[in-house]
Amino acid sequence: MLYAVAALFAPPPALPLVQGVSLAPLTTLRLGGPADVFLRATTDAALARGLDWARNAGLPVLVFGGGSNLVIGDEGFGGLALQVATRGIASRTTAEGIEVSAAAGEPWDAFVDFVTTEGWAGLECLAGIPGLVGATPVQNVGAYGQEVAETLLRVRVLDRETLAVRWLDARALDFAYRDSLLRREPTRFVVLEVVFGLRPGGLPSLRYAELARALADEPLPSLARVRQTVVALRRKKSMVLDAKDPNTQSAGSFFVNPVVDAATADAVRQKAVAVGLVPAPDQVPSWPLEGGRVKLAAGWLIERAGFARGERWGAVGLSSAHALALVHHGGGTTRALVALARRIQQGVEERFGVRLEPEPIFINVGF
Ligand code: EPU
Repeated sequence: MLYAVAALFAPPPALPLVQGVSLAPLTTLRLGGPADVFLRATTDAALARGLDWARNAGLPVLVFGGGSNLVIGDEGFGGLALQVATRGIASRTTAEGIEVSAAAGEPWDAFVDFVTTEGWAGLECLAGIPGLVGATPVQNVGAYGQEVAETLLRVRVLDRETLAVRWLDARALDFAYRDSLLRREPTRFVVLEVVFGLRPGGLPSLRYAELARALADEPLPSLARVRQTVVALRRKKSMVLDAKDPNTQSAGSFFVNPVVDAATADAVRQKAVAVGLVPAPDQVPSWPLEGGRVKLAAGWLIERAGFARGERWGAVGLSSAHALALVHHGGGTTRALVALARRIQQGVEERFGVRLEPEPIFINVGF
């Protein structure tokens, strides 16, 4: 009894803060200097306490997960690097289908594997993407014709200012292509949990032409089969993490696909024909969007601006499988990677008059 009462008043266990931790191994690019202080938070409470501790210490905080979309400066981070490592998946049946919730620190690909194996449709095209569940709403992760905005119902977040826990529904997140409120206001919330509404026994989505072609001989592919095919397509483009793949040290797509007005898209097509890149304007890959805007393929523009797949500039270069991925071959610096990205941005702008915007989050390094 005495012990129980004592436990009630016992201070919480000390936070496992570590000083001077190298961040490079925690990113898929394997680049970036050390963090002054590092905390791996395995509970929501530890996350909140870490934020509180940093505030009291007057330190900035970098909250991150799988490090697959992060470019960290060579000087590192002069504050607390807080890695989200919470786990847990739960599901319940509702009138609409099934609600599945996952803690922010759950590995995304394993989560997609779990839901597709259960026969719940809605995320099967998002297989093979590195990183953690909590990062997916931030940039509205998408691939092969699906994006999380289509099935995400709500997220539980920690308000970084008040440390209060809140729910935000999908509408409040104001999703757009690779964008959301969470990305536009990066220091406001930390995602703790994500809830998706999936369709038990639902049909897989085969909207992306390349995916539909790969499965053309199979009349009714299962969710698991679609998942497997997506992973195979991604593997061919070196877009899955694989230590044996020489292109693997990357941040995936380094630029987002530019969304331009119809006149700009036409100018790009005319230019491509004029300089002999394509025989006809409709050979330039492009996708019409609502409101007359057009999405162009950044990878295509990069290659046609004269940057070849597999080309290297010292320790950094372009993936030999996909021009949109910048690769670090080891022993390089963030400075060199960013200089290459700038050269590419400039080259594409000079040739096509279109400015590519980067996709990753940059920490302590300008772009
Ligand atoms: N292309 C080239 N050269 C290249 C790569 C692509 O000419 O080196 C052309 C392709 O031939 C195709 C077009 O560009 O006509 C589009 O290529 P792809 O189908 O590979 O898709 P993407 O637009 O380059 C996007 C996402 C990927 C996602 C794929 C598949 C963005 C920024 N990227 O790439 O997402 O996996 O579609 O859906 O939207 C990521 O965000 O990190 C990512 C990998």
